[in-house]
Amino acid sequence: MPQKYKVYVTSPRIPKQALERLGRFAEITVHPDRPITKNELISVVQNFDGVLALLRDRFDAEVLSHATRLRVISNYAVGYDNIDIQKATGKGIWVTNTPDVLSNATAELAIALMFSVARRLLEADQFLRQGKFRGWEPDLFLGIELAGRTFGLLGAGRIGTLTALKAYGLGMRVVYFSRKRNLLLEAQTGAKKLDLESLLETADVVSIHLPLTPETHHLLDLTRLQKMKPGALLINTGRGPIIDEKALVQVLREGRLAGAGLDVYEFEPEVTPELLEFPNVVLLPHIGSATHRARNAMAEVAVENLIHALQGQRPPSLVNPEVLGTP
Ligand code: DGY
Repeated sequence: MPQKYKVYVTSPRIPKQALERLGRFAEITVHPDRPITKNELISVVQNFDGVLALLRDRFDAEVLSHATRLRVISNYAVGYDNIDIQKATGKGIWVTNTPDVLSNATAELAIALMFSVARRLLEADQFLRQGKFRGWEPDLFLGIELAGRTFGLLGAGRIGTLTALKAYGLGMRVVYFSRKRNLLLEAQTGAKKLDLESLLETADVVSIHLPLTPETHHLLDLTRLQKMKPGALLINTGRGPIIDEKALVQVLREGRLAGAGLDVYEFEPEVTPELLEFPNVVLLPHIGSATHRARNAMAEVAVENLIHALQGQRPPSLVNPEVLGTP
């Protein structure tokens, strides 16, 4: 019987069914239920053919420089800013992700965050739990109505496009900022492509759906945050470091924004402590794709990617196709 491939799975919480499938194909070692350390990752890249990884596992240049055996990193996420792609490619390591299957779940969460902030849902829930509800009042938790407002999309990729379509369905006008024009979005919603500054000045809701790259790091710095329309909402289900969190605290203190809804953080899992002080900020623990449907589908895609790559076949979602030219 031919020797099985060796695959390391960095979390025991990945849906079992997909792992069982992987187990028929490879010899799996599952990491205990805690984040993997840098030294452990170094040992993985030396002793395993493949790794099924989480976005909190950092495959930086140093870790990858130790890679003697590893051939594929299958990231259980659509984003892959936890991996030094250039280094991986240089080492001949294939990197894959899980696009599409989580787009709707993440878009729904962005919309949920938008409503939570606009209608002050968490504040109102707390108020009731504290026994303060004494009956209907004319001015109890007045919020912002979204229909007729402008939805400003930052990043018109798969998740951003779906989010904007939903916002349009709610009666919002759509404007977007993106490197390329999105003709589908324009055709379906009449969306207008704007430069970043004009979008920030125009939008009542700014929703971030950009990947984290050197160009998008702190894209929303103090100057840009202060350009946002007074009373606007800021929603981030993309990546935390796109917003300068210290600057966000300052802008919230100035009372410029009506509120913010965040699912991701600059120093994740740490959250800038001052953000906890604002009742008009909703803070979630990075659960954009956290639905049963999306997480099961992500596991299937991640395993499919691994099986293909280990056999030397192009995986369905290879993020560094240049690797195919690497000896
Ligand atoms: C991703 O996939 O990149 C999300 O942030 C988590 O699902």
